[in-house]
Amino acid sequence: MITQAAVLHPGADSWAIEDIELDPPRETEVLVRIHASGLCHSEEHHRTGDVPLDHPTIGGHEGAGVVEAVGPGVRSVAVGDHVVFSSIPTCGHCGPCVTGHGNLCDEGRWIGSGRQLLDHTSRHHLGDTDLNVICLIGAFAYHTVVGEASIIKIEPDIPFEKACIVGCGVPTGWGAAVYTGGVRAGDDVAVLGVGGIGASAIQGAKFAGARRIFAVDPVEFKREQALELGATHVAASIEEAAELVRDVTWGMLCQVTVCSMGVGRGELMGSIMELCAKHGRVVVVNIHPVKDPPPTIDLLNLAGYEKQVVGSIFGSVNSRRDVPRLLALWRDGHLDLDRIVNRTYDGLSHVNEGYQDMRDGRNLRGVLDLTQWSPR
Ligand SMILES: NC(=O)c1ccc[n+]([C@@H]2O[C@H](COP(=O)([O-])OP(=O)(O)OC[C@H]3O[C@@H](n4cnc5c(N)ncnc54)[C@H](O)[C@@H]3O)[C@@H](O)[C@H]2O)c1
Ligand SMILES: [Zn+2]
Ligand SMILES: [Zn+2]
Repeated sequence: MITQAAVLHPGADSWAIEDIELDPPRETEVLVRIHASGLCHSEEHHRTGDVPLDHPTIGGHEGAGVVEAVGPGVRSVAVGDHVVFSSIPTCGHCGPCVTGHGNLCDEGRWIGSGRQLLDHTSRHHLGDTDLNVICLIGAFAYHTVVGEASIIKIEPDIPFEKACIVGCGVPTGWGAAVYTGGVRAGDDVAVLGVGGIGASAIQGAKFAGARRIFAVDPVEFKREQALELGATHVAASIEEAAELVRDVTWGMLCQVTVCSMGVGRGELMGSIMELCAKHGRVVVVNIHPVKDPPPTIDLLNLAGYEKQVVGSIFGSVNSRRDVPRLLALWRDGHLDLDRIVNRTYDGLSHVNEGYQDMRDGRNLRGVLDLTQWSPR
């Protein structure tokens, strides 16, 4: 079939809207008509070259839609089901999956390949060129074909524009605070960067019982939103936050710090460690440019105060449990997705405008509304 997708060509500085040929789903694959797609900062790293791509690639890994066809052997969904993509596939039977670390599923090693899990070939084509798909998904499109391991069924009354961000940004931020960070009742928490990830980390920390939440962002609008979402204090820079945190906590500092800035910077790690309490944890979520010099941190201080620096991918979540759980928390009023999705864009052609709004600090999370589509 012919559909439309936003493709990043190597070296290009914007997304190109292309008519592409999409093959039918093969064994264990699912064809999804995508209705909404979130604009996560991770695609931006590919556009800027922080994490370069060497092959034309369809972007988008925060998507929600309706199953339009299934290949042989698909058991967990049927035609007509509403689904969200899991930004990391979970096979359900590798070592990490069976020990409760679905975010580290062994199939995740194929994400960089951009091809189908089944046979490592492409279902997406632009003329004679086989296209890659981000995160094995390719949700900047009206349709895609993905492996069943990337599909999670959701309840049919949940609006697509809310559901889609529960495929990456929300679990990544919420889980970074709750699971990777292990926020406990009474903890003081810092969240550095209030985009889709940070806005979810603030809410996770609050729900887990944080006493004070220090949100840091240079953009005033983000600081205002942080306060609405549960932050108790805000600062415009890490330096400003260091003074505030020292003052408010009487020098006890933060048990958990979540790094969710748009671009991670190694040179900031030293100041970030100064927010960290004895036995505290700094959770690195944001992506650092591959060519950035490695950070310098004071390892004597790290040892002396038993500080921890831990990485976090997809919020340490098990998406098959946590996506429905987070949507249930939204339904019950414990998770505010409405405020995070503060701007929607009507149609795929607005993808570059949406990312410009992200760069300009206007979006907590921009979402493409892809409901309207007609074959040309
Ligand atoms: N580890 C993972 O699993 C994972 C998953 C998704 C996204 N990410 C990464 O997390 C990061 C955040 O993603 P997002 O979609 O929320 O981005 P975003 O662009 O929506 O938000 C980033 C925020 O950081 C703020 N910021 C920039 N510089 C700052 C600084 N020095 N101090 C404090 N705040 C600063 C920006 O103003 C912005 O509000 C990105 O690097 C993204 O690629 C990681
Ligand atoms: Zn993402
Ligand atoms: Zn697995």
